Amino acid sequence: MKKRFLSMTMAAVLGISLAACGGSPSEAPADNTNAAKDSSATGTEAAQEPAADAAASSDSANKDKPLCWFNRQPSNSSTGELDMTALSFNEDTYYVGFDANQGAELQGTMIMDYITENIDKIDRNGDGVIGYVLAIGDIGHNDSIARTRGVRKAMGTGVEKDGDINSDPVGTNSDGSAIAVQDGEIEVNGKKYVVRELASQEMKNSAGATWDAATAGNAIGTWSSSFGEEIDIVASNNDGMGMSMFNAWSKDNGVPTFGYDANSDAVAAIAEGYGGTISQHADVQAYLTLRVIRNALDGVDIDTGIGTADEAGNVLTPDVYTYKADERSYYALNVAVTSANYQDFTDSTKVYEPVSKQLDQGSHATKKVWLNIYNASDNFLSSTYQPLLQNYDDLLNLEVDYIGGDGQTESNITNRLGNPGQYDAFAINMVKTDNAASYTALLNQ
Ligand code: BGC
Repeated sequence: MKKRFLSMTMAAVLGISLAACGGSPSEAPADNTNAAKDSSATGTEAAQEPAADAAASSDSANKDKPLCWFNRQPSNSSTGELDMTALSFNEDTYYVGFDANQGAELQGTMIMDYITENIDKIDRNGDGVIGYVLAIGDIGHNDSIARTRGVRKAMGTGVEKDGDINSDPVGTNSDGSAIAVQDGEIEVNGKKYVVRELASQEMKNSAGATWDAATAGNAIGTWSSSFGEEIDIVASNNDGMGMSMFNAWSKDNGVPTFGYDANSDAVAAIAEGYGGTISQHADVQAYLTLRVIRNALDGVDIDTGIGTADEAGNVLTPDVYTYKADERSYYALNVAVTSANYQDFTDSTKVYEPVSKQLDQGSHATKKVWLNIYNASDNFLSSTYQPLLQNYDDLLNLEVDYIGGDGQTESNITNRLGNPGQYDAFAINMVKTDNAASYTALLNQ
């Protein structure tokens, strides 16, 4: 009965989400034994659904089971204020993400360094104005907001709003009169240049999915017909959108394009003129996402295998993450990836060596985890984060059911959390950061 319910809802919803995405998580890891466990991968899970068949191995109430939010931090999408109710849902609740401000600064600096190093050729039409366009992922997502601010700060185009840099999209700004930004000015080798944000928009498709790469590919078409050689730099809140713009226009026109995430395709494109990207250390985040769950299930100190080596020797050093106890949050640190170092980042799905050792099955028995990805066609989560999770779940003896959402509604995902009692723990990636209660309500039942 339970199984039938799962099969029907999954088949129904997966039909939609898989149809919408050529490169879903399903296609990412070819080598993986978890493909069989990956309910979002098969579409027809009936024959292979070990995790949902048996009950969880603990008798805890769902509300007491370990819960890890990841990638989308429970928070108010207008103010950014953290949702501490969700972050401290029970004593085994955590968030895993990365340091958005440090990464945003790094992205802005990376672009500015590129401009100064290439000043002789950067101003394509020689008008003394360095023009850039900016693809915004999700105006209500803290990471996206931080990156928009980071670029504007470095470019000198930011204006203050409510004590911080305004992160609103400008639409178009051909003459520099937009209110949300200002013209910046830089001086290199004794020559002054104006820096202008020519255009920016949130890349949201008509169905409501954010960070939408296809929308960015269309936008660059429109922007390039309006601005042509005025565009000297393309900046993007992520690589999914950045690569879409690069492939559609900037590669052929020799315009450096900068993204974020260090997805493998973007790193490879650096050899072909992609300007650079930021690694948010997804290899550390994916590990932490499952590690905090493993530790909570084992009833050991939460720092085990994180700041303190476990018995297998897994340990992280402080240069790759921080933990803020008052926010119940682990944040990976970011690294810039440019032509100088990209060879070290070519495979974004490789486990981080210091935490790559198998846990012993005897003392860490297999447990079942329900984990969702808010949008099965999100480039970063499907091509980088989920393959990493699938590598770590084996090492940590976790049997994970991966659920891929449509990126539009929370119910598309919560519908597939019909029987939380079958799982030992949960890892959640919300569609909208305000919506944590849609999930915790189910666990509270
Ligand atoms: C990534 C984006 C991704 C988003 C999804 C961000 O951290 O950089 O690429 O679309 O997470 O929530």
